[in-house]
Amino acid sequence: MPQTQPAAIALLLFLACALLAGQAHAEGLAPAPTPTPAPAPSPADAAPPGSPAPLQPASPSPPAGITAAEVALHSSASSCWYIVDSKVFDMTTYAPMHPAASELVYAWCGQDATQAFHDAHPVGSREDAEQSQYYIGELAA
Ligand code: HEM
Repeated sequence: MPQTQPAAIALLLFLACALLAGQAHAEGLAPAPTPTPAPAPSPADAAPPGSPAPLQPASPSPPAGITAAEVALHSSASSCWYIVDSKVFDMTTYAPMHPAASELVYAWCGQDATQAFHDAHPVGSREDAEQSQYYIGELAA
């Protein structure tokens, strides 16, 4: 059968091409490899939760607190510390700016001014908040 041989070869070539094309198509449709997920951030990387800031001295005070004897050494206009509610304040820079009279503050340098301060400025007043800027540490027990 001399005429059927070319036809058979053509048929075989056609089938081979169709087979290869089918493979290529299948490869093209294959899903891309899944990327490895990035590791989740550890809790240590997370920002610390916000919390209300406690009264902080401008410079570190002794861990045991400031003694009354130490406060008493600052009893002049050139270095004026006083105590209010067991907290020590350095009023040296503020005293000259006191709106009523600087003498009202100077009178308490080196001493416990709790009563005098609260008589003029109640707890929670604007003056109470402003005074906190001059906090330098706790009074030692
Ligand atoms: C031992 C400490 C202090 C004493 C004895 C004292 C006393 C006084 C007195 C007697 C007055 C007049 C009150 C009036 O006119 O009715 C006054 C006014 C005032 N003080 Fe003081 N004070 C002291 C500390 C402070 C501090 C630490 C601040 C703020 C940082 C402050 C801020 C003021 C202000 C803003 C006024 C004017 C209030 C107004 O507008 O009537 N004081 N203080």
